[in-house]
Amino acid sequence: MPTLSTGERVHVTKIVDRRTPAADVVVLGVRAPQLARFAKPGQFVMVVPPAGEVASVALGIYEAQGDRMSVLFFVSGKRTTELARLQEGDELTITGPLGNGFFLDDAPSEVGIVAGGVGVASVLTSAQELLKNGCRVQLYYGARTQERLVDMDLFARAGCEVHAATDDGSFGYRGVVTDLLARAARPPRLLLACGPSPMLRAVARVAAEIDIPAQLSLEETFACGVGGCWGCVVPIVRTSAQAPSFPPAVLGGSDVVNARVCKEGPVFWAHELRW
Ligand SMILES: Cc1cc2nc3c(=O)[nH]c(=O)nc-3n(C[C@H](O)[C@H](O)[C@H](O)COP(=O)(O)OP(=O)(O)OC[C@H]3O[C@@H](n4cnc5c(N)ncnc54)[C@H](O)[C@@H]3O)c2cc1C
Ligand code: FES
Repeated sequence: MPTLSTGERVHVTKIVDRRTPAADVVVLGVRAPQLARFAKPGQFVMVVPPAGEVASVALGIYEAQGDRMSVLFFVSGKRTTELARLQEGDELTITGPLGNGFFLDDAPSEVGIVAGGVGVASVLTSAQELLKNGCRVQLYYGARTQERLVDMDLFARAGCEVHAATDDGSFGYRGVVTDLLARAARPPRLLLACGPSPMLRAVARVAAEIDIPAQLSLEETFACGVGGCWGCVVPIVRTSAQAPSFPPAVLGGSDVVNARVCKEGPVFWAHELRW
């Protein structure tokens, strides 16, 4: 599949729509035809808060269709607070698509997607692609409370079978989403997951227990976001197809090398991670 050159990945866009699906959660839609066209499920963008006072922030590509792409973010710190103030018509510079997304070629007929908290922002395009290819998609979506479960109807309308869990039991299963996954009546044959590290580790455990592969999208803190600073590494097995070809730092003489989450990832096979 063709990709964009480095220069072509910088897009000066305009916000065409803005909505707040929940308190402190914002979806910004921008006009970015090239970005929408070349984005693959699970890839991300670096978004520059326009005042120029704070660094760019990594956000998943939430939707990508026609001339429009969107990001969904939880207002959590300086950069997302600044982005949340933007309105329709404002300009926004976005670099992307970046990283390797989910590996969806040869996906089995039944796929489980596990999303925790902001992780939901990185899985909608994967669900849409799998459904388009005739797969059944079970979404396991966990959040602290019902108010923090966003856009479930969007996933349901797309054709996903939605299973929700909340920590406080205000909606769906009371408890962590991976417990809900472990109780699946019809276990999926592949798992895709995005969310906080403890959830991803639990997904890896469930996948190992039921003996199915899992792809995990890691939420690392990025500095450059484009592979230049090696500030976001995670250990993976040297034999992985994602192992960087240069200069792989060997940890303790083992068969483990460092891969950059922003460049070789953010998606890795659970069985290849050594974290
Ligand atoms: C590949 C990738 C994709 C991502 N996609 C999305 C996405 O689609 N949507 C989304 O919402 N997020 C996403 N994130 C996460 C997002 O990039 C981070 O949350 C980012 O740090 C937010 O920037 P900020 O400046 O608003 O918040 P930051 O200031 O960086 O704060 C982020 C978190 O750290 C806490 N924090 C900040 N300072 C301190 C401190 N001094 N002590 C303790 N805690 C502190 C904040 O309370 C908050 O919870 C993604 C991350 C990655 C790596
Ligand atoms: S954040 Fe710089 S290499 Fe990943």
